[in-house]
Amino acid sequence: MFQQVEPTPLDPIIRLIGIFKADNRNNKIDMGVGVFRDSNGNTPIMAAVKEAEQRLHDQQTTKTYVGLSGNESFNSHISQMVFGDDADTSRIRAVQTPGGCGAIRVLSEMLSKVSSDSKVWLSDPTWGNHYPIFQGSGFKTETYPYLNRITKTVVVDELLEGLSKRGPQDIVLFHGCCHNPSGAELQPKHWDEIARLAAKNGFFPFFDLAYQGFGDSLEQDVYSIRAVAKEVESLVVASSCSKNFGLYRDRVGCAMIMGETSESADLACAQLLSTARSSYSMPPDHGAAIVGMILDDQGLRQTWEQELADMRGRILGLRHQMSDKLRARTGHDRWDFIADHRGMFSLLALDDEQVKRLRDEYAIYVVAGGRINIAGLRDEEEMDRFIDAFVNVVE
Ligand SMILES: Cc1ncc(COP(=O)(O)O)c(C=O)c1O
Repeated sequence: MFQQVEPTPLDPIIRLIGIFKADNRNNKIDMGVGVFRDSNGNTPIMAAVKEAEQRLHDQQTTKTYVGLSGNESFNSHISQMVFGDDADTSRIRAVQTPGGCGAIRVLSEMLSKVSSDSKVWLSDPTWGNHYPIFQGSGFKTETYPYLNRITKTVVVDELLEGLSKRGPQDIVLFHGCCHNPSGAELQPKHWDEIARLAAKNGFFPFFDLAYQGFGDSLEQDVYSIRAVAKEVESLVVASSCSKNFGLYRDRVGCAMIMGETSESADLACAQLLSTARSSYSMPPDHGAAIVGMILDDQGLRQTWEQELADMRGRILGLRHQMSDKLRARTGHDRWDFIADHRGMFSLLALDDEQVKRLRDEYAIYVVAGGRINIAGLRDEEEMDRFIDAFVNVVE
């Protein structure tokens, strides 16, 4: 059966995790993998999560199936967090999924059934896994301009020009906030413009929201989605609780559909549930039950929001520290953009040789292309080592 199987290339980030693990140098620094780390280098379980987990353990009386759409309290809290209090909930459906990836996949499968001739447009660059997910659902993918690799800012004019050519046969994937891998963000006025274009030209917005709360705030990070939702008749959102609740391995995500009417939202949702049924059937309960409990309880929610604000504060603090130190060290402002970026990542646009030198000579791991996870730096000593290595290799 398997003798003729072609070797499968590993996802570059997954491969990097393996190489990092096998490296015996005890001063190695992992700025590759996309998980939050605190100042001790740990990815901690949040206190609100621990407390909810304990309550769940004490209160849960059965492990019977929950249902195709998962935990309904979770679903309604997540869609409220994304669309806000004023949203027309009669047109919104939410389905719990195994992680953000699961949400992107079932939404993509659903769309491939209702609009099989569409093309999916991804930002250049985008998170590597977007390609196999959408192509795996049968879509052709194309890219729209996003990043100026010299200034590391968004090429707003080219992006809008690119989008102005998209129409009803096009699905356009946007990162709701904290663009991965670039870290470069669109401003609210740009989202307003995108919203107008989507409404005028009829392309279909697909939001991937993996970092709500990691950028500026829970509310500001979904300006993008709310602005577009106000203008268009329908869209979808794939949200993940891996990062903002630190529930990576528990696989917690939510697929949301906003339909033209309540009836069309129901039709799309039924299609999505049938896709889920024929693959994983029902989502895992544990993580979503924890999130649902936290968002439902004032005290737990407050604790969680404070912990999330602390994580965001650490990321922003590291960003300012890095850009200040690089400016002091190099005497120019070429790296100031690091403080303006949001989320854990910045794409530094390094070539393969520079990435290899950082790894071989300095034991510093970054993703090919130069994506750094700034939260991978534990303390000032590691920051200074990174700055030294970076200036030697890149300047
Ligand atoms: C842009 C983006 N989308 C989606 C995800 C999905 O994450 P998960 O499936 O772990 O919830 C990630 C995780 O790294 C991501 O970076």
